Amino acid sequence: MTRELAESFDLKKLPDDFYDDPFRYYRALREHAPVKHLRDGGVFLTRYADVLAVYQDAASFSSDKKQEFAPKYGRDSRLFRHHTTSLVFNDAPYHTRVRRSIMGALVPRALARLEPKLEALVKRLLDHAEDAGRFDAIADFAAAIPVEVIGDLLDIPDADRAPLRGWSLAILGALEPVLSSYAQAQGEDALKGFHIYLSALITGRRAKPGDPAHDVLTRLLQSEGEPLSEIELAENCVFLLNAGHETTTNLIGNAIELFARFPNQRARLIAEPDLLRMAIEEVLRFESSNQLGNRVTTRDVEIGGERLAAGTFVTLGIGAANRDPAAFENAESFDIARAQNRHLAFGAGVHQCAGMNLARMEARIALGAFLERFPDYALADKPGRSRRARFRGFMAMPVSLR
Ligand code: HEM
Repeated sequence: MTRELAESFDLKKLPDDFYDDPFRYYRALREHAPVKHLRDGGVFLTRYADVLAVYQDAASFSSDKKQEFAPKYGRDSRLFRHHTTSLVFNDAPYHTRVRRSIMGALVPRALARLEPKLEALVKRLLDHAEDAGRFDAIADFAAAIPVEVIGDLLDIPDADRAPLRGWSLAILGALEPVLSSYAQAQGEDALKGFHIYLSALITGRRAKPGDPAHDVLTRLLQSEGEPLSEIELAENCVFLLNAGHETTTNLIGNAIELFARFPNQRARLIAEPDLLRMAIEEVLRFESSNQLGNRVTTRDVEIGGERLAAGTFVTLGIGAANRDPAAFENAESFDIARAQNRHLAFGAGVHQCAGMNLARMEARIALGAFLERFPDYALADKPGRSRRARFRGFMAMPVSLR
């Protein structure tokens, strides 16, 4: 049975039950086809050691997506320009230049100044939930936090933030393995709106720079060496918002669902709040918000005992690797006190998530306050899962706060 699951698996034609439980398929693939050859000529990797090896070898496994995205979006599209200009889908030296200029604003010391405003926001959202009596853990909480935090990071005025979430969802929606013409049109429209907005913001920031110690846009404007062009600046700002948005929403939402699904783990966390940081790592491992990564081989290379020709598209099964029993003891159990937890939820190597400290901080403040205020919460209905293979999370999660 598991062999059949592995044999029939097709990333571009996923069965309906995949979205609820992809881990059944991942298990079958790890066991029977860890280097799964896909119909389009690419491969899908599901073993931890293979996924890690790819992340650590940027010379053989490129992040440059021009070859892949040209036929997908069309060379003249906004989606093509955006995705091929953002740092994540580029190699050195461009990647190194952009990454260096933003990292300083994302280290824990620089992020600490965001904490008080974030704590106040979380308190406001929870006060509102208590008053309203009804609460959707996604719309009213998990999704309301990351956009505000990235808005603070780029110093986007509060009054301008309303459209950011919709733009971001539409741009990310166009990254799914199968692209519908509707999703493509939504992505193009979102980028148009976003660019018009950013062009005015950048002009204003050039005239009146912010504090580069914590304003990422000012850092990008003042980056050393060859300055970033207007387009490079705008596309990387768009990327920052997108990178930090749905992923973090999903981390917070997935945690609330997991603490409801495993009441013993929740009880332990409430009794031992110092476990919160470890619990967040376990949520990241067990239900990784970002389930898939991508690379393309730059030369003939061996992985998982198989030879891949230069130019092969490689999909990295982050969610699958994070449940690999060869890397994690009792990999299929959710254990908030797991001692060895070198999960790949943030990737690894030169492209490892630049915002991981920020994501962890958001989750810690949001979940800590939520559990303290509503330790007896329960899911009021089955949460509505977003049917996406790449981003794992929920669109709606009605919760009774008791
Ligand atoms: C739970 C939340 C998050 C998850 C699971 C996540 C996951 C990831 C992963 C897997 C990568 C590596 C991509 C690759 O190698 O192909 C990545 C890259 C990146 N992430 Fe995150 N991310 C999260 C939150 C954030 C936040 C809050 C920010 C905000 C600043 C952010 C900014 C970035 C950036 C800039 C990169 C590109 C780094 C590079 O290419 O050098 N991420 N993220």
